[in-house]
Amino acid sequence: SADTTDPSAVADLTALEEAGAYLRTSDIPVAFPTETVYGLGADATRSGAVKGIYAAKGRPSDNPLIVHVCDLDMLRSFLLPHGKTINGSSSSGSKPEGETIPQIYLPLIERFWPGPLTILLPNPQPSKLAPEVTAGLGTFGCRMPASALARTLIKLAGAPLAAPSANASTKPSPTAAQHVLDDLEGRIELILDGGSCDVGVESTVVDGMCQPPVVLRPGGVSIEALRACPGWEAVEKAYKDQAEMGAKSAPRAPGMKYKHYSPKARVVLYEAGFEGGKKGVLEEDLDKALEGCVGHEGREKAVAVIRTKQWPVAAGMRSVGLEQDSRVQGSDEGDNADPGTTSFLVRQGALLSADGETRAARLLDVDLGQDIKRVAHGLFAALRELDRLGADVIFVEGVSDGDDIAAAVMNRLRKAASDIRA
Ligand code: TXA
Ligand code: MG
Repeated sequence: SADTTDPSAVADLTALEEAGAYLRTSDIPVAFPTETVYGLGADATRSGAVKGIYAAKGRPSDNPLIVHVCDLDMLRSFLLPHGKTINGSSSSGSKPEGETIPQIYLPLIERFWPGPLTILLPNPQPSKLAPEVTAGLGTFGCRMPASALARTLIKLAGAPLAAPSANASTKPSPTAAQHVLDDLEGRIELILDGGSCDVGVESTVVDGMCQPPVVLRPGGVSIEALRACPGWEAVEKAYKDQAEMGAKSAPRAPGMKYKHYSPKARVVLYEAGFEGGKKGVLEEDLDKALEGCVGHEGREKAVAVIRTKQWPVAAGMRSVGLEQDSRVQGSDEGDNADPGTTSFLVRQGALLSADGETRAARLLDVDLGQDIKRVAHGLFAALRELDRLGADVIFVEGVSDGDDIAAAVMNRLRKAASDIRA
């Protein structure tokens, strides 16, 4: 599994050794699992290798990459300018500067590393990191993944790995090796399969070099948990979500430039607490959805629903014949399944038209459940699975975004949604 923290659980060391050797010389990145999502890794010290990431993803190069380290010594060596080593040997003979990790981060490192937290650090000049990693910024983002497989790979590569999520640009992040294959087949040569990712959403990105410290992206470590650390009590959100931008009353479409986490289907997000009209949560939007969604040439339209907490089966839709025969993503289906790796069921049925008789569309129904960790774990996989099953539109029941991981879930959903109902 991608989320193990026990190094002895890394079974296939030979494959990892091969991947590590490949990373040292190749300019084609390697996809590898972390506890958050799959990453697309390259030696962060070699420009050619880092450029290979942008090429494989089709990602604009003005977006900086996270540097993944296997231990604190590796991090410390990158806090020193190029040409200096951690033992203090430098040509000038002066005392090495900058090898110490800024004080503000020590409680976070102690509490959350290895784990889903990325910290911003000053990038020394001249830097040992390839300039393409930081996109010209004076800082670099760094994290130590909880996945033992990821840390072993970094160690064997002998260099920190710059890695964005291993999806094609604009797609939902990959939480299984198959997702990477779906997006990047033919563009990369190596995917390490570590099973499905435990957390399911990306790391939390924080900047502690400003006062007060800020969260730049909500993720696997909650704001609640950050606040409990010394120096982080007053941490602020520095990211904008549509609900906070005054979109409560009107649905809005995001700009194409920032299209992100998007399946092919149109995503319609219902903010938590949305009651719907007299006819029920979704019914009013249904006819519009059926008009609005363009079915693929010559086939029945498909309407999907992702439920989390309140919505009943098929969310009040005029549905019949829900079959329980669709597939379960992931491997642990048993009663003793760990919530971290348990997946979801996609039910398929039929949606009836207003007269209650005519079959109007295919209905796909996913229940991610009430447990927010489980919702986070299954979210991207659900969006991808509904795409695979041909959904034209996906209605999503939002969760209330407190200071827990729900903030990350709603942040990603708001970006994926082409309309918000609030
Ligand atoms: O969980 C994760 O963080 C995954 C796994 C693979 O580690 N990686 C990931 O990378 O999500 P990516 O490239 O998809 O997202 C990196 C985020 C972006 O929001 C980027 O803007 C921010 O980190 N970031 C990286 N370096 C930064 C910097 N120097 N200043 C500000 N933001 C930075
Ligand atoms: Mg990404």
